[in-house]
Amino acid sequence: MQLKGKKKGDSMKSNDYGPLFPSIPRVLHGADYNPEQWLDYPEILTEDLRMMQLTKCNVMSVGIFAWSSLEPEEGQYDFAWLAKILDDLYANGQYVFLATPSGARPAWLAQRYPDVLRVNKDRTKNTFGLRHNHCLSSPAYRHKVAKINGELARRFGHHKAVIGWHISNEYGGECHCERCQSAFRAWLQHNYQTLDRLNEAWWSTFWSHTYTNWQQIESPSTHGETMVHGMNLDWRRFVTEQTMEFMQAEIQAVRVDAPYLPVTTNFMEAFEGLDYWKMAPLLDFISWDSYPTWHEPRTEAKKASWVAMIHDMSRSMKQGKPFVLMESTPSATNWQPISKLKRPGMHLLSSLQAVAHGADSVQYFQWRKSRGSSEKFHGAVVDHVGHEHTRVFDDVREVGDALEKLSAVVGTTVDAKVALIFDWENRWAIQDAQGPRNAGIHYEQTVHAWYHALWQQGVAVDVIDQTQPLDAYSLLIAPMVYLLRPGFADKVSEFVKNGGVFVATYFSGIVDEHDLCYLGGFPGPLMDVLGIWSEEIDSLYDGETNRLHIDPSVYQGMKKSYDVIELCDLFHTKTAKVVATYSDDFYAHRPAVTLNHYHEGHAYYVGARTKQDFIDDFVSFLLQRHSVASHLNTRLPEAVSVSIRTNGRDQFIFLMNFSQKTQSIMSEQLHGRELFTAMAIKGSIILKPFGVAVVQQS
Ligand code: GLA
Ligand code: ZN
Repeated sequence: MQLKGKKKGDSMKSNDYGPLFPSIPRVLHGADYNPEQWLDYPEILTEDLRMMQLTKCNVMSVGIFAWSSLEPEEGQYDFAWLAKILDDLYANGQYVFLATPSGARPAWLAQRYPDVLRVNKDRTKNTFGLRHNHCLSSPAYRHKVAKINGELARRFGHHKAVIGWHISNEYGGECHCERCQSAFRAWLQHNYQTLDRLNEAWWSTFWSHTYTNWQQIESPSTHGETMVHGMNLDWRRFVTEQTMEFMQAEIQAVRVDAPYLPVTTNFMEAFEGLDYWKMAPLLDFISWDSYPTWHEPRTEAKKASWVAMIHDMSRSMKQGKPFVLMESTPSATNWQPISKLKRPGMHLLSSLQAVAHGADSVQYFQWRKSRGSSEKFHGAVVDHVGHEHTRVFDDVREVGDALEKLSAVVGTTVDAKVALIFDWENRWAIQDAQGPRNAGIHYEQTVHAWYHALWQQGVAVDVIDQTQPLDAYSLLIAPMVYLLRPGFADKVSEFVKNGGVFVATYFSGIVDEHDLCYLGGFPGPLMDVLGIWSEEIDSLYDGETNRLHIDPSVYQGMKKSYDVIELCDLFHTKTAKVVATYSDDFYAHRPAVTLNHYHEGHAYYVGARTKQDFIDDFVSFLLQRHSVASHLNTRLPEAVSVSIRTNGRDQFIFLMNFSQKTQSIMSEQLHGRELFTAMAIKGSIILKPFGVAVVQQS
């Protein structure tokens, strides 16, 4: 069945971005570099430069935690070492992301200005130590950060080596000091204007929690309020905005003297504590730190698709613009429960996976292993042995050689006609909700399960939140959209009206942006487009199953029946027709999956949580039925993935084998030259275990 009416997915997003840094028309390759740890070992710094050349590294992130070396005592700066390092790096062929050092503070600063220290949720105050533990509203901290940032910009903002700012490092956490609480109250007052509106939004007559004075409001506390869900949501929004304000102050400080240098901050995967979508517009390019636990038994493909999903989200955060893989480990981490080494092949594969999904860089934590303290065993390009004759160094060299052959990919993007919704505010609300499954509501896993099916079938996906435009897509999958953000339901209705295909699941359209339940039936404002009314939701104990029944003669490629687990929505059709029914229990024969023809489009409702098999088959059915193309229009072997980068003219087909078996891929579209071997490819390719190939299509 073709999409009727206006063909969705015709809207043009830009797909020719050019290099992120005009002076470097190559894929970036580099690492966090901490020369301040080695200033007393000049021979090591010289060795670093030699070895950087061997790896074809062209960028280093410098100064991330260097504050006490830059300002050993208040107001006494020592920039000479950094000046020399930047000069040496530039002369050696490495550009620099210069970091602002706010991620960790010198001891003198904490001693002299104790209000920089963070107060935890249990109201205890930190002593000096660790990192990322400052009060975001402390005037002293803001002042000192602005000062050091300004000094760095003045001295180095125009240095030829410096191509961008690495603002702080992995922002995260929250402070509950009195000042931050006042800021929270002011934020609430600004947003609600009156206490009546706040009391309504927080439904505070429940348990007699009505506030009669703004001063009565305290931030969530381990021994105070934790169960007013509207408040929890607002607190999380506040923390994101407070972090943004802090970040913006940092950016302003470096922009005084270096107004044109692009800025980023390194995101932590899908870190729950901050709504990265809100932060993204303040950054010139997105960057993130990727540390998957590769090689856990039986999870390689799932792990790979999770990482691919975060890459796709990072690209989508700037509507397709290439992003930077700011950190990854060349071997193992030292902080995961099991620090397993990357097996041969995995370093190249995982590095190129980032590029396949839109990264124009591969960077590591860290260039050289530190000698002491907590990260002395974290993987690095250069090990304690100090020379280049190591397996890991060889792996990094291999990546350096490969990236050099991918310069033509720089500035291209992935052109997706499918969007998957992964939304922070929804995630916060759904995890906080005390409801049908307190033993793990599994929102992220559910989003990932749908992504995994698309990934395994070689489909390009944008991973977006509810605030993003939908007109570029033909298929929109929105698992568990429990909280509907303002305007989302209208946007979805328009999307389907105009011929789009929409898939929603159980536990959707339950609350508004204040976490207040929709009155008049679920899925609230999505009821018309989905053509159903959901009455109640059943929860199954772990290990229990129901089944759903579907007619494979109508729904081609599907099996007759599938297990359902954990959550079963008991809903009624209004205008939708039944696609599948439950098999067992008192709701046997009632609808489990439905389809609503809505104007020019189609809206599916999957009422029950299923295992991966249903999602895989259903996605495959949707792609076929609604003519949504996959990358190579072929069935990919298990754990093999494909991603195509394009600028609208050239196509670069990345083929990745995340299995330990040799795999072959056949497709009529596989025609061109493989960029690492220079071999001509005509319709098929063989990938060795953990193998990767890039075919430039002709
Ligand atoms: C994070 C930090 C780095 C380092 C690595 C270790 O990503 O940004 O400073 O601690 O983790 O994996
Ligand atoms: Zn504070």
